[in-house]
Amino acid sequence: MKKVIATAVLGFAVTVSGAMAADGEALFKSNGCAACHQANVKTVGPSLKEIAQAYKGKEGDMIKFLKGEAKPIVDPAKFGIMKPQLNKTKNMSEEELKALVEFMLKH
Ligand code: HEC
Repeated sequence: MKKVIATAVLGFAVTVSGAMAADGEALFKSNGCAACHQANVKTVGPSLKEIAQAYKGKEGDMIKFLKGEAKPIVDPAKFGIMKPQLNKTKNMSEEELKALVEFMLKH
């Protein structure tokens, strides 16, 4: 029984340290972004491919947008749906934002 508990604790430690390494894909999923953004098809929000095309070579601009410091460029008419999401990204660290943007730009 003791062994089982030790394994469970160890497993938890690995999960936590993994999250701290700022994994862009994990952040994207755990913050619910995937609910509106699919890789290749437009759903509620633009596809990651469409976002990546608009922000190609403009990583810094996307970070500014996610901090609420820059205007939307992909689909400004629907920004009202995206706006509340910035409350999550605004509170992320620079490292987390970079990982998140890197993940989105890979599409
Ligand atoms: C409730 C649906 C929804 C969720 C959840 C959501 N988005 Fe969006 N997102 C949208 C819509 C709609 C747009 C198009 C409006 C716009 O361009 O701002 C958008 C646009 C964007 C854009 C392009 C901004 C631009 O310049 O136009 C980025 C980047 C983005 N979302 C990132 C994210 C991230 C990161 C998350 C998770 C923290 C997230 N979204 C969660 C709906 C959503």
